[in-house]
Order: sequence, then structure tokens, then C-alpha cells
Amino acid sequence: MKIAPSILSADFGNLADDVKAVCEAGADYIHVDIMDGHFVPNMTMGPMIVDAVAKVATKPLDIHFMVENIPFFIDLYKHIKPEFISFHIEEEKHINRVIQKIRSEEIRPAVVLNPATPVCFLENIAADVDMVLLMSVNPGFGGQKFIPEVLDKVKELRNLAERKNPDLLIEIDGGVNDKNAPLLKEAGADILVAGSYVFKQEDYKKAIESLRV
Ligand code: DX5
Ligand code: ZN
Repeated sequence: MKIAPSILSADFGNLADDVKAVCEAGADYIHVDIMDGHFVPNMTMGPMIVDAVAKVATKPLDIHFMVENIPFFIDLYKHIKPEFISFHIEEEKHINRVIQKIRSEEIRPAVVLNPATPVCFLENIAADVDMVLLMSVNPGFGGQKFIPEVLDKVKELRNLAERKNPDLLIEIDGGVNDKNAPLLKEAGADILVAGSYVFKQEDYKKAIESLRV
């Protein structure tokens, strides 16, 4: 199981130190939440801050767009060369075009589903992406409660991936903790995003290890 701490719950006054600390504590990726105040009712950080994060991170970035006008945002962030860029299919009319745009920058494309969006919408997308991110909260804020229905979606997606793309990675984001991590693993998840669970603890290493079930 890979762990991607979400810096949304980090101390923004000491962001560089927090990023370095979770990298040293064993994070596999640094999850970066980009919100535009339109797709979700919150705003986070722009490319200048993400540039600063990339400079100090010793692990690859996993950028999660919760934005409208996705191609514009890809152009704003592509120079940072994250490992993944993920975008919400609820927002995009031309999903395949956007996937190709991300891949043409040698960045691994991923799509995101809100809790209410069914897995069957991925039938004609799963073969074209490297990862699917299933939201286990409604996006916009850290510290929300895990929605357990996502467990069935993980199983359904694992089955779909077996038919369409056996290498597909499944990532889960929202309310992840040491209680639901084993259930998510059993269902077939590969990467867990965790914001408040990791950053609320004193010992980041212990927090990350407790999720690596
Ligand atoms: C929520 C973000 C998450 C958030 C998770 O919209 O996409 O990445 O930081 O935070 P926790 O782990 O606290 O639910
Ligand atoms: Zn996220």
C-alpha cells in the first residue's frame, strides 16, 4: 500500500518544513489539492506555492485538480512535472482529449469520481488512464467523515480494471484513517491519500506506517 499525505492539512506557515518532514517520514507521494472556488466551494494554492513545494519535496507530486477549465490548469502546472495529474470527470466534456494532453507532457493521467458518480462511467476510460481516484468524501475540505459506500466502488472498479486495464492504480481520498485502511486494502486500493489523519499526529512516520496495512 502506498501513502500520499495531503498537504491540505499541513501547517501553511511552515509548509516547506512539513513537506520535508512527511517525505522523510516515508510518504510515497505528496498529494496536492488544487481548488478554484468554482468546482468546489474552497480555494487552496496556486502554481507559485506548488513550485515551492516541488522544490523541497523528495517524493513525486500527485496533483488533484478540483477545478473548472481543466486544460488551462494543466498548462499552469505542467512544468512542475508531477507524477500524476488527476481531474474530475464530472467537470469535463472531452475526457479523452484531456487525458491525452496530460500524457503528452509525460505526466501520468488519472481521473477522479465524486462519491455519487458511478464506476460504470469509467467503462470507456479505464484503459486510457494510469490511475483512478475514488473520492470517499465530497471534495472541498479536509477532515470530513469517510463515506463507506466507496468500499463497494473499489471492488467494482477492481473488476472493471481486470477486464480493461490490469495495471490500473486505485487511489482513495477522503477521511482515510487506520480503521478504514485495512478495509480499503482488502477491497483492492493501491494508494491512500490522508490529510488530517497524518498531519494531526505528532509522529508522521508512525501515522504513515499505521496506514500501510
Ligand atoms: C478533499 C481533498 C483531500 C483532503 C483529504 O477535497 O481532495 O485530499 O485533503 O483530507 P482528509 O484526509 O482529512 O479527509
Ligand atoms: Zn485530494
